[in-house]
Amino acid sequence: MQLESHRSLADLTTFGLPSIAEHFVSCGSVESVREVLEWQRNEGCPLHILGGGSNVLLTGDLPGLVLRLGIDGIEEIGRDADSVRVRVGAGVVWHDLVMESLNRGWFGLENLSLIPGSTGAGPMQNIGAYGVELEERFESLEAVEIATGEVRAFDHAACAFGYRESIFKRALKGQFVITHVTFRLPLVPDLRLGYGAIQQELEAAGVQEPDPRSVSEAVIRIRRSKLPDPAIIGNAGSFFKNPVLTEEAFDALKAAHPEVPNYPAPSGVKVAAGWLIDQAGWKGHDRGTHGVHDRQALVLVHRGGAAGADLVKLAEDIQADVHARFGVVLEREVNVLPAV
Ligand code: FAD
Ligand code: EPU
Repeated sequence: MQLESHRSLADLTTFGLPSIAEHFVSCGSVESVREVLEWQRNEGCPLHILGGGSNVLLTGDLPGLVLRLGIDGIEEIGRDADSVRVRVGAGVVWHDLVMESLNRGWFGLENLSLIPGSTGAGPMQNIGAYGVELEERFESLEAVEIATGEVRAFDHAACAFGYRESIFKRALKGQFVITHVTFRLPLVPDLRLGYGAIQQELEAAGVQEPDPRSVSEAVIRIRRSKLPDPAIIGNAGSFFKNPVLTEEAFDALKAAHPEVPNYPAPSGVKVAAGWLIDQAGWKGHDRGTHGVHDRQALVLVHRGGAAGADLVKLAEDIQADVHARFGVVLEREVNVLPAV
């Protein structure tokens, strides 16, 4: 166990905001996760889990221990005529898994190309993009219980997945370290082209017969055209979730704003938060060190020199304005640490 003290986290998160971890450790195996958790229990100090740092906003220094997942490995553990079961270490970079799956003829992850971060964090918020969510390809995961060090398996039902949701963000928040995720991936392409922009992008590229790789390439091009590259400008993707409104609330919004982009959702109607923020005039909003992306209003950016609290303030200003104009409450998608 190699503990570092007073480790800067700025280079370990995509927002690049200043924050120092009192103690920091990277774990490359389940055994080392259990050993570190035993140390943390004995110390009685706070614990924070970090993957690729692409969905966290750090608002200050972190007392206690930051545990970063570095567990490697992409392993085929079974197959039948139609699908393959693949067990993946939590530290595997998500996009590397997507590329490796395409290389090996395992399909179903192509719409999720270029999402930053680690595989272990994927189930936390059931990552999704371009008409596919992780849960559709998910079979099970293994996690270490923080309080006991015991390893537990969770099947699909146990994870209680929803839109940008899982049990690990709700009832079991802060209780488990995910170490491995097992997927069931189709061996025959199961293309999802329903998200309008994919069809347009394939047509623009002259692709007549799409396959998983051309879909992946189309998704990558669309993403690059609107989302800022965290290597160049600090951000954590969508800062807010797209709100899901009741039918009544949606009807009222649509009556006043007939053009509001919307999508059916299991418990109501999902509306595009980016559109609301854009219509409210925030797109490209500039506060010098930070602001709102000029091509996607759902993305807050850190240009350098801001503190986490500045981003929190900007987010609160946007939430208040959107609520005042549209009566819609925006909920943060990004995880704020320490919580405010
Ligand atoms: P981190 O940011 O390190 O952690 C996120 C949360 O999960 C934290 O609360 C952390 O404590 C917890 N956590 C992380 N790993 C583990 C683990 N192994 N066990 C237990 N808890 C853990 N998301 C989408 O869904 N769709 C998108 O299209 C999308 N696009 C993005 C585009 C950009 C440019 C950026 C910067 C982000 C985007 N995101 C998107 C958000 C982000 O990529 C995902 O949420 C991703 O899954 C975060 O992974 P991470 O490893 O960076 O997690
Ligand atoms: N829109 C605007 N102005 C903007 C931004 C968006 O009018 O500034 C409109 C668009 O024209 C479109 C609608 O809003 O009609 C939706 O926009 P987009 O297709 O860009 O997707 P999004 O709803 O803003 C969601 C996810 C993304 C994911 C994309 C593609 C959430 C919170 N965000 O964004 O995920 O990549 O769809 O599936 O669900 C993330 O979670 O970090 C993330 C980037």
